[in-house]
Amino acid sequence: MKTQVAIVGAGPAGLLLGHSLRQAGIACIVVERTSRARVESRIRAGILEATMTDLLARLGLDARLKVEGLPHDGLTLVNDGAVIPVDIVGSTGKHVTAYGQTEITRDLIDAAPAAGLDIIWEAGDVALHDVDSDHPALTFTVDGVAQTIECDVIAGCDGFHGPSRAAIGGTYCDRAYPFGWLGVLADVAPCHHEVVYASHDRGFALASMRSPTRSRYYVQVGNDERVEDWSDDRFWDELETRLGPDIARGVTRGPSIEKSIAPLRSFVSEPMRRGRLFLAGDAAHIVPPTGAKGLNLAASDIVYLSEALIGWFARGDTAGVDGYSARALRRIWKTERFSWYLTSLMHRFPDAGPFERRMQHAELDYIATSAAAQASIAENYVGLPL
Ligand code: APR
Ligand code: PHB
Repeated sequence: MKTQVAIVGAGPAGLLLGHSLRQAGIACIVVERTSRARVESRIRAGILEATMTDLLARLGLDARLKVEGLPHDGLTLVNDGAVIPVDIVGSTGKHVTAYGQTEITRDLIDAAPAAGLDIIWEAGDVALHDVDSDHPALTFTVDGVAQTIECDVIAGCDGFHGPSRAAIGGTYCDRAYPFGWLGVLADVAPCHHEVVYASHDRGFALASMRSPTRSRYYVQVGNDERVEDWSDDRFWDELETRLGPDIARGVTRGPSIEKSIAPLRSFVSEPMRRGRLFLAGDAAHIVPPTGAKGLNLAASDIVYLSEALIGWFARGDTAGVDGYSARALRRIWKTERFSWYLTSLMHRFPDAGPFERRMQHAELDYIATSAAAQASIAENYVGLPL
């Protein structure tokens, strides 16, 4: 096979890039390791910046989002039970939207045939070749049969565990946090109309939603904890304690339909380009989920990368591809900072003493009483300008 851009990975990054390139008439093929059913069933965060909703609108892929997405004008912080509303629209003029990543992935896959975007599912042994030459290639197997795609460019959108990052041979910056998030999905009405980030002496808790009848909740747990030790009752008790009485009053309990623990980490790989290989999304960077930036960062990478590749293929302009890595990394580092900041502010760290805890309290008290501090959180939460 021959194409212009071979895209490794059918997560949000690969699918958004495929649609962006197809809209500009550029040929591309997406090669994905797992099945469509698996990709469509992964449960991840669900708060979209305007960056992401604008991109979906430009691609004409927001029909369901416009109907089912829930606009949020603000977010809510809780400091040991004291509720701190943060107005996003008031200070930025923009809002965020609650819409599950699972739904976005489905919309992008459903729209692929009409866009002429080919996706090869269940590709084995995907390998990248000759990225330093003008004729890179991807090899893989389908049903045991060896396949090759010759291309002009490879886009590594294969997430944290894919092969693309290693092919760049860059340098890594990494932070692992000494805790994870235990997440529960339940078909109950959300406890609050906005996302709630709660800091409590017993640890962090988060209340979010997927729809008016489906809620997503998390509590901070130690890295040694096991899902089996968390009955639904134990989870709901802990969640309500940490959210504090004002928010907990709205909680409706119900059976969990999904329960899992995810570790938290910050990670950046630099640069994001080597020769004809470009990285985007989780292949290049991970943020802890506090702030819901993972999916949104993938979207901004794709805006930059698609502009760069369209400029190159359509007009022979190499400025965009030459500047891609530095341009994307500036926004990535600022978003890494915000995700690290909100994580550090809201969680209990096992090695923190009373001084660190008082600093967290003081900062949250400052936020509660300062319009400037709230505006800073709001502009980061809604998404920094592209
Ligand atoms: N060959 C082909 N595809 C691969 C390979 C491989 N060797 N390894 C991994 N993949 C696929 C994965 O199966 C997955 O479908 O690449 C895709 C990467 O998708 P994500 O992990 O979702 O990463 P990305 O698209 O960058 O999404 C960024 O969305 O999924 C979230 O946590 C993620 O929030 C982040 C954001
Ligand atoms: C979610 O809805 O799953 C969610 C919301 C906000 C976050 C993280 C996850 O910061």
